[in-house]
Amino acid sequence: MAVPFVKDWDLVQTLGEGAYGEVRLLVNRLTEEAVAVKVIDTSHAKECAENVKKEICVHKLLNHCNIVRFFGQRKEGTTVFLFLEYCIGGELFDRIEPDVGMPEKDAHKFFQQLVAAVEYLHNMGITHRDIKPENILLDDKDNLKLTDFGLATMFRFKGRERPLNRLCGTLPYVAPELLSQTKYKAQPADIWACGIVLTAMLAGELPWDQPSEICQEYSDWLKKKTYLAPWKKIQPMPLCLLSKLLLANPKARITIADIQKDRWFAQEVKQPLGSLSSPAKKCHKDDAGVLLRTSSDDKMQFSSSQPDLAVRDLEAILFMGQSDGQISFSQPTKPEHMLLGSQLVGTPGTSQTPWQRLVRRLTRFFTTESADSSLASLKGACDSLALSYKLTDTNQVTVTTLDKRNNKLIFKVHFLEMNKRVLLDFRLSKGDGLEFKRLFLKIKEELCGIICTQKNAFLLHEATDD
Ligand code: ADE
Repeated sequence: MAVPFVKDWDLVQTLGEGAYGEVRLLVNRLTEEAVAVKVIDTSHAKECAENVKKEICVHKLLNHCNIVRFFGQRKEGTTVFLFLEYCIGGELFDRIEPDVGMPEKDAHKFFQQLVAAVEYLHNMGITHRDIKPENILLDDKDNLKLTDFGLATMFRFKGRERPLNRLCGTLPYVAPELLSQTKYKAQPADIWACGIVLTAMLAGELPWDQPSEICQEYSDWLKKKTYLAPWKKIQPMPLCLLSKLLLANPKARITIADIQKDRWFAQEVKQPLGSLSSPAKKCHKDDAGVLLRTSSDDKMQFSSSQPDLAVRDLEAILFMGQSDGQISFSQPTKPEHMLLGSQLVGTPGTSQTPWQRLVRRLTRFFTTESADSSLASLKGACDSLALSYKLTDTNQVTVTTLDKRNNKLIFKVHFLEMNKRVLLDFRLSKGDGLEFKRLFLKIKEELCGIICTQKNAFLLHEATDD
């Protein structure tokens, strides 16, 4: 049985993929409201199903303007769908220029919002355990939203804290005590990861592969060699905060309360008139989300700013329970509802439709050539950069390589034909996002002869100016 309201929600495109599965964009055909749906196939392992249950359990407790909202879940066989707030601004990664970073005032605002999210989590007794730019998204106003609670856990319950022992996270972001001790405290480990994110924002590079003394860059940091990269690119005030965030001893590491007193953190940043970035602001309960949740039970309450009808409909479906019907992800009946489908109507020359405005990605460009010749050029670029690739689909190339730290890097290039223009859309499948972006820029440089430079052809990937 098809669920009536859900049939009005179109699955528009894949937003991202990871080890768990995919995140896709769902758009309401009538109201153009958007939600993200994380699709997880739990058939691989029993522990996967357990992890997803835990992720749901944790995420549905959370209600903060710097945390991606959890709307609900559905299960169909072994596939679980998590319905999440859609963050139109994409990943924080896309704001980091490799080897450069981003303007300090932007990093300052994002860091303040990240700390607000982590403070809220810790006050709830929850630790994220995988804080990194890939798990940090931005909304339409460039507000930071922490997401992916797949590794999160409760470290404090009824005022009693427990030490953790599961070695998890992502090596460059992991705190040193996780590698050197069997037990570790939750809060200092999350704070360490925030320090690595701040370094990435300010310098456009990760300081080390992992925080162990076999890693030269890490031992240089312990020896305070801040005249080396990435530290030499960072101003003294934020560097001073970093030296407190990235203290090897978790007991000596700065706490959130003290981060908030830090001179750089606490400084008021004057925003120039007309600046795109809004300063970090206090979180109002019903601020960014469309709905509020009571903490005592799991019923939805609508905030004073009533959510639009379609989101309420979707909530109603989700909370009807599984037995009431299956979600049917209908394909768009109108081609213009397809954002990046191969038959997309609308050329790069026409102005954006509201659907197109829903996506902002930096790792894509149009070419001036046919699909076949664009493919030949891409192969040529891969050859000259010594990248191995294979055609994994009729319109998709998978590139596999090792990054500068010898870690595996896999990404896919989707070829999308749009009214005689070909869009090459690059998506990271596995590996470090910064390395992916570095390589994307190299490939782009190799292909500069066939990249469409018409200003309006770039509307899709540089939609900041709309
Ligand atoms: N990628 C992963 N999750 C997302 C979300 N909630 N919104 C936008 N892009 C995403």
